[in-house]
Amino acid sequence: MASGGRRDLRAKVTVVGAGAVGGTVAQLLAQRDYADVVLVDIVEGLPQGKALDLMEAGPVLGADTRLTGTNGYAESAGSDVVVITSGIARKPGMSRDDLLKTNMGIVRSVTKQVVATSPDAVIIVVSNPLDAMCHAAFDTAGLPRERVIGMAGVLDSARFRTFIAMELDVSVEDVSAFVLGGHGDTMVPLSRYSTVAGIPITELLPPERVKAIEERTANGGAEIVGLLKTGSAYYAPGASVVQMVDAILLDKRRVLPASVLLRGEYGIDGVYVGVPVKLGAGGLRQVLEITLTDDERIALDRSAGAVRELVAAMAALDATAGGA
Ligand code: NAI
Ligand code: 2OP
Repeated sequence: MASGGRRDLRAKVTVVGAGAVGGTVAQLLAQRDYADVVLVDIVEGLPQGKALDLMEAGPVLGADTRLTGTNGYAESAGSDVVVITSGIARKPGMSRDDLLKTNMGIVRSVTKQVVATSPDAVIIVVSNPLDAMCHAAFDTAGLPRERVIGMAGVLDSARFRTFIAMELDVSVEDVSAFVLGGHGDTMVPLSRYSTVAGIPITELLPPERVKAIEERTANGGAEIVGLLKTGSAYYAPGASVVQMVDAILLDKRRVLPASVLLRGEYGIDGVYVGVPVKLGAGGLRQVLEITLTDDERIALDRSAGAVRELVAAMAALDATAGGA
């Protein structure tokens, strides 16, 4: 049979980093069956092996997704979305910020190659420390802010939703929750805007339980690292990335928290930080500005300040490297 042009009508998603998060993203996308997937990694055989293994699951799952594993970027050319998960992950005792020096070099070099081969792609950054890595990708890419977006808020909100559902013994489907700010210790779980079937959780739970759930959410990444010991979370992060890919490639106009470059919204300028946004075709379509209390605004400013410090730390590392 002639191969025809059907494949060309499919969207193309490249996932850079075929590790725990990248492999999970590829698996979930393969099951969705609306885009072909290219897995890129520097380790020879790893992306090829995972891609082939996932393709061999296709007949069982009923999905025709074509997966390609590679150690270069030629096969990824013309991607619609590129997810960057390459880099090192946390081990017990490490903060996300401890990854800065190694991952900034990796994210920059990957972004350069991604933009050279897929100049029209929307880039979703996952590597940590997330908001700082968004700056690294944005500064290297030379793309509009609409097309360089970070994934963290969907994950942090999913953790918040999970803990609320566990506490109240209700379906996760009925829980919606928002977390603002950077993906770090200063993240801002917004309980006032977190609801069960539209009812704010502040009306359903005593303040001390709300506070405990907020704290568990902020430590959600560390909790998993402490249990796994050899790396960090990947199932929930993978699912969170795929929700963003869906929103973009299916032009769903989802309202989700994501790390985007603020240009005066929330009184913050020139910093990547997590806020509610509308995601659809082309990436970021709108930053939604919600009213914050004084305490929430102070917490968001503190979080943006922590991201600024990491951006300054990257500049200092550059200056040291340049002067060495
Ligand atoms: P992992 O170690 O399992 O996978 C990382 C992969 O990147 C490895 O296979 C490695 O060979 C590859 N890699 C390294 N340098 C590369 C390069 N220059 N080009 C292509 N591939 C390269 O790590 P995991 O668990 O998948 O986490 C990946 C990153 O995502 C970490 O930085 C982690 O902290 C971060 N993360 C962020 C989350 C978020 O919410 N934003 C959630 C979970 C993880
Ligand atoms: C997490 O929150 C590692 O940032 C990652 O699980």
